[in-house]
Amino acid sequence: MRDIETILVLTGAGISAESGLATFRGPDGLWEGHRVEEICTPQALARNPALVQNFYDMRRAALARVVPNAAHHALARLDAEWPGELLIVTQNVDDLHERAGARRMLHMHGELKSALCRECGGRVRWEGTLADGPACPLCGGKGGLRPDIVFFGEMPYQMERIEEALAGADLFVSIGTSGAVYPAAGFVQTARYHGAQTLELNLDPSAGSHFFHESRVGPAGLLVPEWVGDMLGDRVTDAG
Ligand code: OAD
Repeated sequence: MRDIETILVLTGAGISAESGLATFRGPDGLWEGHRVEEICTPQALARNPALVQNFYDMRRAALARVVPNAAHHALARLDAEWPGELLIVTQNVDDLHERAGARRMLHMHGELKSALCRECGGRVRWEGTLADGPACPLCGGKGGLRPDIVFFGEMPYQMERIEEALAGADLFVSIGTSGAVYPAAGFVQTARYHGAQTLELNLDPSAGSHFFHESRVGPAGLLVPEWVGDMLGDRVTDAG
């Protein structure tokens, strides 16, 4: 891991599992009792708005009952102490990375604590519920607010910035993601194509494990602090 200056970290639901948030594709294949496709599509929202809005209202409320775990804290430490470039791209819609203190990060699949107005296209910070059809604080439109979540078939946020970071990364690290959803599942191949070292930290080998130079298997709460310690420790040794 010498000669690493620029790091790109991709995180998925697995990094928040030890905080008590359900992953999307558990052993029963269900996300909080639903198939992901029943909830996370524009069609589902149009067909059954109450179901989708209530579902996300519950997920948003659940954030108050969880706290960042050792893996989020380790990445926040890396953000604070890594002297080179770093970008943490999360597929997660929870706010645990930022509550742990990470700053150099973005949410490619949107955020629970944000609402998107279908009338004016604006995005607003949102803590409360949406099922009751509140007015948009930006345009005043009633009932147009939906969760600011990237549904299946919609374009993830900040893809240009992510593509740039993938092209410039010396090291790409994927944490707690099943590799089932594109474009994120293809990031490892893009990063490798551009010459990055690639490392996977996951509870079990993901669908794309074979694309990584190295795959470490175990809980994020153990593996991530260990890896961050290595990275920061190596820098001290190198400097000395
Ligand atoms: P998944 O639920 O598909 O995958 C979670 C991964 O984390 C699995 O490979 C688990 O083995 C692993 N995992 C579970 N517990 C872990 C732990 N304690 N430590 C490390 N790894 C652990 O979630 P994602 O890959 O994030 O999109 O799913 C990708 C996208 O699919 C989500 O962002 C979501 C969903 O549709 C949207 O909501 C737009």
